[in-house]
Parts: sequence; structure tokens; C-alpha cells
Amino acid sequence: MSESSMLQHPGRNLGMELVRATEAAAIRATPWIGKGDKNAADGAAVDAMRRFLATVSFDGVVVIGEGEKDEAPMLFNGEHVGNGLGPACDIAVDPIDGTSLTAAGRSHAISMIAASDRGTMLDASSVFYMDKLVTSHEGIGVVDIRKPIAENIRALAKAKGKKVEDIRVAILDRPRHQGIIDEVRAAGAGTRLILDGDVAGGINAARPDSRIDMCIGIGGSPEGVGTACAVKALGGLIQGILYPQTDEERQKAIDAGLKLDYVYEADELVASDNTYFVATGVTDGDMLRGVRRENGWIFTESIILRSKTGTVRRILAEHAEEKWL
Ligand code: FBP
Repeated sequence: MSESSMLQHPGRNLGMELVRATEAAAIRATPWIGKGDKNAADGAAVDAMRRFLATVSFDGVVVIGEGEKDEAPMLFNGEHVGNGLGPACDIAVDPIDGTSLTAAGRSHAISMIAASDRGTMLDASSVFYMDKLVTSHEGIGVVDIRKPIAENIRALAKAKGKKVEDIRVAILDRPRHQGIIDEVRAAGAGTRLILDGDVAGGINAARPDSRIDMCIGIGGSPEGVGTACAVKALGGLIQGILYPQTDEERQKAIDAGLKLDYVYEADELVASDNTYFVATGVTDGDMLRGVRRENGWIFTESIILRSKTGTVRRILAEHAEEKWL
């Protein structure tokens, strides 16, 4: 953004209000950390997020939510959220990205919401998985999801002025990824295998000051669109290829007008330069600290990203526990 445009009033930052909903979701999920019940953790987070979203002055439609109406009583795709006043937005919610992590008491679970102008988020809900590639801005015009991994690693290392051996690649630790894990290591780079939560993995890859340089592999397609909102605000690179698993899923995608065997660039995942991404840590992670309770206070850490201004805000909040009983 040029100096002159920064001098213009950038307007309201919707993320500053949406963050209350991710804080609430994270707080309500904490009693379920390590209790082995991921549905209870998710249910508590969904319920809290929905209540707080209702107080925000905007006219939101959930494009990426908890699934279809009949299967998800709350925050289903197509549900209207907000008080109906203010900007018309698409929103993507993941009340907990890392429900299994939360249930197990493991690190790196977050609660997230992404928002963009109405009609701009790709509705990829008919295909569960997406193959993704995320890097910081140095990867733009340098790496490409269609190229061999070793070539991308060498090109990114050169663009970042790093040695190949110092490049760290985040990948979901799944049997389906054994081939790319081997390729990364054969190229001389290192892997950072993540148990769950490729939204945080992608954001870490897009951040300039992170220990992760690239995030690759097949994860949820809804998570891909949410990540794209964050990556656009960070000025990074994201590419995604839908990855249907059955002929039925392929057909559903075609019927929904989605493109298969096609590389979706950031501007197609979210066709807006007005994106917001907010997240609050549920459990401790590389990006955010998880919820802590001490001496009658609940501490949360959140991040708010806004593409229009390129602002990255970290919000440390202290909540009086008695108000949350
Ligand atoms: P949820 O916690 O919302 O279920 O998602 C966790 C997650 O790891 C995502 O971050 C990722 O995109 C997806 O699941 C990967 O799916 P799978 O576990 O089937 O490989």
C-alpha cells in the first residue's frame, strides 16, 4: 500500500470485533482439553462462537462452516450470522482447527474465523480435500505446485537467500504424504510434520519471521480457503488443487461448478482484497499461546490479519473468570 493510501482512513477493522468470537470459542473449549471428546470440545466452541457472532454489526453468510444444515445444527453453510447491519460478508469458520489435538491435550489447536466481501469466497464444500502449497511473499513467481518439490525447494531457498538444508517444510503427518516427505528429505531440506491443523501450518509458512518456509500437502479444502484469507493479508503465496477422492465427489464438484485438475490461486480462493483472518490459541502452538487460567483470570492470545492495510495484530486479553461461569 502506498504512503498516500495509508494516509486515507482505512475504515473499521471488522477483525477487531470478530476476535471476540474466537476468544469465546477457545475459552469454552478449554474444559474439554485432554478429555478425549472432540465433539464436546467442538460443540462448546461452536456454540460460543455463534453467540458472539450474533453481536457483531455485519451481515455475514457462512460459506465455510460446520457442514450441511442437517448434520450441523449451528454455523452450517448458508447460515446468516451477525446482527444484519453493516457490511455484507462471506465468512469461513473453524471453531476449532485441531479438534483431535484438543481432545488429546496436544499443542497447536486454534479457533478461527475468516471474512471477505460477500460473494468472494470459493465454496469448495463439495470436495473435502485440497492439495495446497503456501509460502511467504518470496515464493511468488518462484514456486509452483505443478513443479517437482525439489525444484520448488531449491528455488525458494535461492529467493530467500538460504541454504536448501535450512529450508523447513510443514506437512500433515499422514500416510498419504509419505512420498512428498521422502522427496523433501531427498532434496536436502527438513520436514516439520504436523499432527493436525494445516491452517496454522500455512500461516506460519506465509509469515516472514517464521521457522517454517513452506507448507505443502493435502488437507481440508475449507481450511484452504480460510488460510487464503490470512495469506492474502500476509502478502504470501497460496495455491490449491481440489482433491476429490471418489467419482461421486468428482461429480458433485463438477455440478457445483468447481474446476478439477486446476490450480486455484489466492485470488480465486478468495476474490477480494478486503479479507480478514482472526484466530485465538486453544492449546499452545507456534503461532499462538493457548488459553490459560490463573488466579481468577483467563488469558487468551489472538492474531488479527487484515489484507487492506497489511496489519498483523496480536491481542493479549485477560478475562475475569467469574464472568464466564
Ligand atoms: P478439524 O480439527 O477441524 O477436524 O481439522 C483438523 C485438520 O488437521 C485440518 O487442519 C486439516 O486441513 C484436516 O484436518 C486434514 O484432514 P485429515 O485429518 O483427514 O487428514
